[in-house]
Amino acid sequence: MSEVEQILIGIDLGTSRTALMTNLGTKAMLASVVGYPRDLIGVKLLGAPRVVGDEALERRSYLDLYYPLEDGVLKEAGERDLEATTELIKHVVNIAKANATSPNPKVCGIIGVPARASSANKDHLLKMTQDILDISLVVSEPFMVGYGQDILLNSIIIDIGAGTTDICALKGKIPGNDDQVTLLKAGNFINEVLEAAIKQRYPEAQLTQHLVQTLKENHSFVGEAEEPIVVTLRCNGKPISFDITEEMKTACESVVLEIVEQVKNLLKGFDPEVQNDVLQNIVLAGGGARIKGLGQMIANLLTDFGDVSVSIVEDTDFAGSIGALKLATDLPPEYWSQLGDMIGA
Ligand SMILES: Nc1ncnc2c1ncn2[C@@H]1O[C@H](COP(=O)(O)OP(=O)(O)OP(=O)(O)O)[C@@H](O)[C@H]1O
Ligand SMILES: [Mg+2]
Repeated sequence: MSEVEQILIGIDLGTSRTALMTNLGTKAMLASVVGYPRDLIGVKLLGAPRVVGDEALERRSYLDLYYPLEDGVLKEAGERDLEATTELIKHVVNIAKANATSPNPKVCGIIGVPARASSANKDHLLKMTQDILDISLVVSEPFMVGYGQDILLNSIIIDIGAGTTDICALKGKIPGNDDQVTLLKAGNFINEVLEAAIKQRYPEAQLTQHLVQTLKENHSFVGEAEEPIVVTLRCNGKPISFDITEEMKTACESVVLEIVEQVKNLLKGFDPEVQNDVLQNIVLAGGGARIKGLGQMIANLLTDFGDVSVSIVEDTDFAGSIGALKLATDLPPEYWSQLGDMIGA
């Protein structure tokens, strides 16, 4: 009898985007969203009962959108949230299976969750995967990033996502609760601060959440502005230029102090002999790592502690899923139970 084909998937199930990588060479990214038609016209326009990922965003004018994750953890509010989660995971597995050579491969996935996700939430996620994956394991997101980058010792990873900022101290072992923190201030929080600040100064400017996020992604910075940020917004239908330099700076800096405080706390938990090494090994990941000047600002706020070096992972979009796949490949699924909560045989 021939051996059953095994697909290993590293999944970074994010609040805003889900990234996956497989041992069959698949590398994909999709919006973590499921769209359902609002009415019969929507069903006709869509030609399907639902749509998952970026297409749902493109067609949002006639769909109700469900983001199954909030603050990095599964929403459990209503039936639609549960269904949307299942659809999202199924979609990920279908993308992974597209490259399979056999009809019924065994599918094993490692899924990243926020550093301090509750065990109830991890259990819930595992149960949702039960009928979709043969074996699944949930691990801490920033640990996955560290594993992927081969920095497992004497370093601190800061993963700034949409819903959460996850910070993790890597000490050459599976991080425990004292080694990691999850903050609820991340990209979505920056969007809210930015929107409120622009509205306050320019009440006449017409904004949507999507537009605010795009402005942030195009112009984010902390510290000194290299040049004024002048953008065109609509007022009563007319395009008008607005200077939003100060608003952008305030919004992006709104997450920094808390991150630095947590880095200081985690630093204390390392042996004093290695704290210098740790300060040389602070690594930013997640979409928020792209904020201009962020590494420098974090380093500046830590100067009292010694020489500090903050770097950014090479592939901010896939760093989590790269690590999850590496972990899945390095360690046969039989041993996954040693790494955290898992389900399957
Ligand atoms: N250039 C940029 N500057 C600032 N923020 C950015 C930039 N590019 C992307 N982002 C933000 O990064 C966030 C998405 O990052 P990421 O994909 O790591 O999050 P996620 O994994 O979906 O969320 P989480 O980890 O919280 O579940 C969004 O808030 C997005 O607006
Ligand atoms: Mg993330």
